[in-house]
Amino acid sequence: MNSEIEIVPMTSAHLQEVADLDALAHKNDKWTVDMFAVELERGYTRYWAALADGRPIGAIGIWVFFDEAEIATVTVHPDWQGRGIGTRLMAEAVRQAVNEGVDKATLEVRVDNEPALSIYKRFGFKKVHVRRRYYANGEDAFLMKAEKWQSREFAESVDDILQRWKLKDRKAD
Ligand SMILES: CC(C)(COP(=O)(O)OP(=O)(O)OC[C@H]1O[C@@H](n2cnc3c(N)ncnc32)[C@H](O)[C@@H]1OP(=O)(O)O)[C@@H](O)C(=O)NCCC(=O)NCCS
Repeated sequence: MNSEIEIVPMTSAHLQEVADLDALAHKNDKWTVDMFAVELERGYTRYWAALADGRPIGAIGIWVFFDEAEIATVTVHPDWQGRGIGTRLMAEAVRQAVNEGVDKATLEVRVDNEPALSIYKRFGFKKVHVRRRYYANGEDAFLMKAEKWQSREFAESVDDILQRWKLKDRKAD
C-alpha cells in the first residue's frame, strides 16, 4: 500500500465508492449514495475525496455558512486508517474554509471516537458540551468548537501539517 494519495474535489464519479467505504467505516449512521449525491448539489457544501491509484479511499465534507463551518463527515476506508489520511483530508478542507473566510467551526463526534477526537484537537477543536443520546443508537456526542481560524498562527499550523505530508511522501518515493 505505497500508493500515492491525492486529495481532489469529490465528484459524482466517486459517489458509489465513497458510499461503499462509508458503510464499511461507520457502524451506524452510514450515508447512502443518494445522500452524498444531494450533498454534492448543495451550494454551501465542500467535499473532497482521497484517492489511492485513482480510487476513493476516504472523503470529507464540510458546510460553509459565511464565516462559520460545520464538519459534516470524514471517513477513511478501514484498510487505510492510521496513515494520516484523515488528518490530511481535514487539512485540505480546513485550508479551503479558511481561504473562504471561515473563522470558526463546529462539529459533533461520538464521545469514544479517539481517532476522530485526536484529529479534531489538532485543528483547534475543543469540547464544549455533551449531547446526550445524539445518535440514533443512543450514543452521546461531544459538541466541539474551534475559533480564530483566520489567525496567522492557525494558517501556519495547517500549512505545517500539509508540509509534513509532502516530506513524508517524498521519503516514501
Ligand atoms: C476518524 C477517521 C476518519 C480517522 O482517519 P485516519 O486516516 O485513520 O486518521 P489519521 O491516520 O490521520 O489518524 C488520526 C489519529 O487517530 C489515531 N488512530 C487512527 N486509527 C486508530 C485506531 N484504530 N485506534 C486508535 N487510534 C487511531 C492515529 O494514531 C492518529 O493519532 P495522533 O493524531 O495522535 O497521531 C477514521 O478512523 C474513520 O473513518 N473512522 C470511522 C468514521 C468516523 O468515525 N468518522 C468521524 C466522525 S464523522
